[in-house]
Amino acid sequence: MAVLPVTKLGNPILRKKCNPVMDFSILPQIVEDMFDTMYEAEGIGLAGNQIGLDMALCVIDITHTEEDGVPHVFINGEILERTGEYLMEEGCLSIPDVRFEFNRAERVRFRYQDMEGNTYEDEFDGLLARVIQHEMDHLNGNLIIDHVSKLVRMQHRKQLREIEKTEKSLLAVK
Ligand code: NI
Repeated sequence: MAVLPVTKLGNPILRKKCNPVMDFSILPQIVEDMFDTMYEAEGIGLAGNQIGLDMALCVIDITHTEEDGVPHVFINGEILERTGEYLMEEGCLSIPDVRFEFNRAERVRFRYQDMEGNTYEDEFDGLLARVIQHEMDHLNGNLIIDHVSKLVRMQHRKQLREIEKTEKSLLAVK
């Protein structure tokens, strides 16, 4: 078990489009660490670049809701189609204590691989579709702050600057 530090706003890896996973043999340890890290941080989703890995994978667990019964690992995911729209408030482990309300698609058609490299194509809706879109954003270098207006960002400017400042000082030490 390893709980890893979660990269925060200001860390350049969060702005990078992550590379596809090619070597599936290294996944078991990485995925275990990602679940440990996500549960410790009390998150419901975590993307590879949130633990500093330039790898297109994410883990999701919304089993605390009635909507879904199992945790998920999605490798090399791609959203093929988005339909509908709904408004919801979202947070992000990489931007602690900041929440924004904005629209995302209600339903997605999603192609992904499992840890063995098998490819699937499924439809997801509700919270799971929401979290998939959030994690796919991460893996494409996007964050929740990109979904709100400049005005809304300005209202949180102090908090956002503080997170960036702390992250950059941590990076400078490394
Ligand atoms: Ni996030």
